[in-house]
Order: sequence, then structure tokens, then C-alpha cells
Amino acid sequence: MDRKRSAQSGPEGRVIKYFETLDSTNITAKEFAEKGAPEGTVIQAGQQLAGRGRLGRVWKSQAGKGLWFSLILYPKTAAEFCPQVTLLTAVAVAEALQKAAGVQGRIKWPNDILLDDRKICGILSEMALTTEGAIEYAIVGIGININMSSEDFGAVLADTAASLYLATGMEYECKQVLKAVLEEFDQLYGQWHREGFAPIRKKWREYNCTLGRMVTVKDNDEEIYSGTAEDVDDYGSLLVRNAAGKIESFDFGEVSIRSC
Ligand code: BTN
Repeated sequence: MDRKRSAQSGPEGRVIKYFETLDSTNITAKEFAEKGAPEGTVIQAGQQLAGRGRLGRVWKSQAGKGLWFSLILYPKTAAEFCPQVTLLTAVAVAEALQKAAGVQGRIKWPNDILLDDRKICGILSEMALTTEGAIEYAIVGIGININMSSEDFGAVLADTAASLYLATGMEYECKQVLKAVLEEFDQLYGQWHREGFAPIRKKWREYNCTLGRMVTVKDNDEEIYSGTAEDVDDYGSLLVRNAAGKIESFDFGEVSIRSC
């Protein structure tokens, strides 16, 4: 693995560590967090050789084609509320894509960003806990397809994936998109610490394309529940009302849904 890297300071002294090639920015971010990297440190890779998605999936991360990075955070909350940070991040990405490229991203629960029903961004959050169960650190990994063409996606993803290039016909500088995401993220993360989850959930609802829709909840490809997506709760779980009117909550660590 090539670990050639450079470090720079972003806005307000943020540390941004750029590597040409990593296996996964989430893995390297964990190594930095274990060594006490400051809050907000960014680990970015030009390409990932083993980019990871949710539910054990692979995340395609070619050189120069997208923004592949992880944020190191120390959220001041109980561990069960950490999913709020992931929802907050999805809002930040949707707002940043609008500002940087004028596109209207929609959030599919839990945290996929879609353009015209195709996925442009995925978020993989992981956390480490102390022996007392408090958050030691959280890693929020974000992958945004920037300059990917249909050929870059290949046959398997061509019908389901989006990029800024495909959506607008223009190529974008990854660092400009990164700057926009970090600006939005910092603002929302600050608001979340000051005011709690309520204003974030309000924004998440505005950007989401899942609530009010019929959804099928799947666990390991097996359909386990279906109904109307009603809301997200304080744990970031999706509340689904079935035909009999019974509401169940689903944790995004375990299930995926079909909707949007
Ligand atoms: C998903 O939708 O399945 C989540 C995808 C997350 C991909 C990003 S790319 C940067 C970071 N490093 C990883 O290995 N994964 C995340």
C-alpha cells in the first residue's frame, strides 16, 4: 500500500491528511484516532484499494474520480445517539452538493444521497467505545462520486450510481467539494452540540425521500417487514407502520430498505 501523504491545515486549523492511496480511509482514520488526532481531522485518499461500504459491501473508489475521506470525531453524546451524527452528515452532504454543483440530492434512509434515484454518496460511520460504554471516538467515512463516467462505474453500477459529472456534464475539483462538505458539516455539528437533534432532524426530513413511502425492510436479503416509513427516532432508527397499523423501529446497523 502506497502511504505517500501530505498534510495541510484547512479552515480554522483543521488537519487534512491526504494520501494518494489507502486501503480504506476509515481504517487509517481509526489509527489516527487511536493516537489522539484532533477533532475534525480529515483522512482523505486519492484512491482506495479496499474501500468499504455498509453491510460489508465494497465501495468503488478510483483515483481522481471521487471524494473518499473520513472524519475523526469525538461527539459529546451517549453512544446510542451517535447515529444522529450520521444523519447530520447526510444533511451536510446534500447541502454541500447543492452549493457546489447546484444539484438536489435526496437522502434515502439511513444516509445514502441520491440524485434522480441514483446513489451519489454513501456514508459509513463506525465508533469505538470505552470499557464504560462511552464514545471514545467516531469515524464518519464519506464517499462521493464526483467525476465518474458510466464506463468508470461499469455494468453492475451503471444503472444505480450517480456522479456530479453525469448529473451536470461538468468535472469538479474534489477539493472544492470537500471544502463545501466540511463547511456545512462544521455548521451542523456545532448546531447539534448547541441545540440538540431537533433542528437536524427537521433538515433531514426536508432532504429525505423515504418518509411517507412504502418500504420493505431487508435483513441479509430477506424481506422481514414492509409498510409506510413514518419517521426517524432519536436513535436514527426508521419507524415503519405496517398494514395492521403496528409501528416497528429498524436500526440502520442491521437492515437496508428498498424505497425512493
Ligand atoms: C455505503 O453506502 O455503503 C457507505 C459507503 C462509504 C464509502 C466511504 S469512502 C470513504 C470511507 N472509507 C471507506 O472505506 N468507506 C467510506
